Amino acid sequence: MLFNTGMVLTFFCCTGCSNDKPAEPVTATTVAAVEKPDFGGYETQAQWGEHLVTIAGCNDCHTPKKMTPMGPVDDSSLLLSGHPEKMPPPDVDRKQMESKGLVVTATFTSWVGPWGISYAANLTPDQSGTGTWTEDQFVYAIKNMVSKGLPGSRPLMPPMSMMPVKHMKDAELRAIFAYLKTVKPVSNHSIQPAAPVLASK
Ligand code: HEC
Repeated sequence: MLFNTGMVLTFFCCTGCSNDKPAEPVTATTVAAVEKPDFGGYETQAQWGEHLVTIAGCNDCHTPKKMTPMGPVDDSSLLLSGHPEKMPPPDVDRKQMESKGLVVTATFTSWVGPWGISYAANLTPDQSGTGTWTEDQFVYAIKNMVSKGLPGSRPLMPPMSMMPVKHMKDAELRAIFAYLKTVKPVSNHSIQPAAPVLASK
């Protein structure tokens, strides 16, 4: 049975009422027809999230690459698992890179620039990634660009801090988080950024 939104309905409570007490009227101000949630046109929230992750390019940095003659391609066995923790830091002249430019490793997961070295984090639902995160933590991390989505923790470094994902709506970020929960968990501890060598004098 469908009711129009805004329709005022009055029910009389019968269960639990004793015989000598008159039934208390319970007023429901809004009874809406049960509507299918809007997942951006997708069947499920996770499918919407997958679409957003794809078009927002999260894989570009969070999924390690395999090099092919035609250039780097995503290593699907390591989907969204971040910079491989066992991979050594990039072997470059950091002083020169920090003062003159920007370097990214062939995996596309670690970046050297004036901020030091940053490593793309593991976003898979493993304990070493986002497995213990709440949805609120994820939304907070992106909106405020802070590590692990914990208030007061360190700011996220470039290139993450530059990403326009912070302009997404909460519902879109929640969809991304729902998708991340469905990705294969990969054990790979997220590496903390290294301070710039130029600042260490
Ligand atoms: C251009 C590269 C790049 C892109 C694109 C990118 N990220 Fe990141 N992301 C990083 C790097 C590097 C870090 C680590 C930053 C740090 O440690 O300060 C990071 C960190 C994060 C963190 C924090 C993880 C933690 O442990 O605190 C989250 C969450 C995150 N990214 C989600 C996303 C999502 C979702 C997308 C797509 C909408 C995305 N990123 C796109 C490079 C990128």
